[in-house]
Amino acid sequence: MALKFKSLHPAFAAEVEGADLRAPLPPGQAAEIEAAMDRFAVLVFPGQDIDDDQQMAFGLNYGLMEAETATVDVHKRRLKHAQMNDISNLDESGQLLAADDRRRMFNLGNQLWHSDSSFKAIPAKYSLLHGRVVTPEGGETEFADMRAAWDALPPRQQEKLRDLVCEHSLLFSRAQLGFAEFTEEERAKFAPVPQRLVRRHPGSDRLSLYLASHIGRIQGWMVPEALALIRDLMEHATQREFVYSHAWRRQDLVMWDNRCTMHRGRPFEDRQFPRDMRRVTLMDSRPTLEQAA
Ligand code: OGA
Ligand code: MN
Repeated sequence: MALKFKSLHPAFAAEVEGADLRAPLPPGQAAEIEAAMDRFAVLVFPGQDIDDDQQMAFGLNYGLMEAETATVDVHKRRLKHAQMNDISNLDESGQLLAADDRRRMFNLGNQLWHSDSSFKAIPAKYSLLHGRVVTPEGGETEFADMRAAWDALPPRQQEKLRDLVCEHSLLFSRAQLGFAEFTEEERAKFAPVPQRLVRRHPGSDRLSLYLASHIGRIQGWMVPEALALIRDLMEHATQREFVYSHAWRRQDLVMWDNRCTMHRGRPFEDRQFPRDMRRVTLMDSRPTLEQAA
């Protein structure tokens, strides 16, 4: 069956009809989906009754998978695959995380606008998030269109930004929420990495802002000046016209391009309702500093 793309946002989000992600895709369909990803940047595949293995197999159509997840207390894993990100409020025995659990505090960072793995030397290309258990209220995921945000900047400001290099770290994003209890080992693992502020998106040949709450510095700038600029750009890029809000239904699979979008989770009653989402993350090809701007 041919795929149909139904617009969810005029510029960058669509729902895909006619895909079955349980089995290997028919010839040509992976490329058809990638072409749609280049045009949009967020695709929603409703009603996908898939398990961890099927989710990973679908992801592998689009590149190399990140080898490990960047989180705290990794020895307390709930999921069987080390490559699968546990985006839930559950502990290793499937119970709601305790109010004071360190992982719960750390995970709150997902509610700040970000791009996945921008704190890694080679950041993420696509993320694929699957809703296994969704919440009756709240818990939406919002996406912001960073190519449109770039296009909307005045030319003078575009010139000023074009060659800037930012430093990204999980330590910076968590510090914004006052979370700073990292071990020495975590501090070393999460050391800042440089990323271009403006990127060229290869599949569309459009420029895009590359922002995230993980940014804590701009190279060559005084920190307060840098953070004031980043905050201003964040406000610009997340105006309602650039945002698609996804209200989850069970078994939705949402796939987004981290090279040209930001996203954030919205609050929900996480001490009352379970929310079990699982994410597979594909790597970009090389550090952004090595990519043509
Ligand atoms: C993610 C993420 C937000 C959410 O899976 O990368 O940031 O809504 N999720 O859970
Ligand atoms: Mn994320």
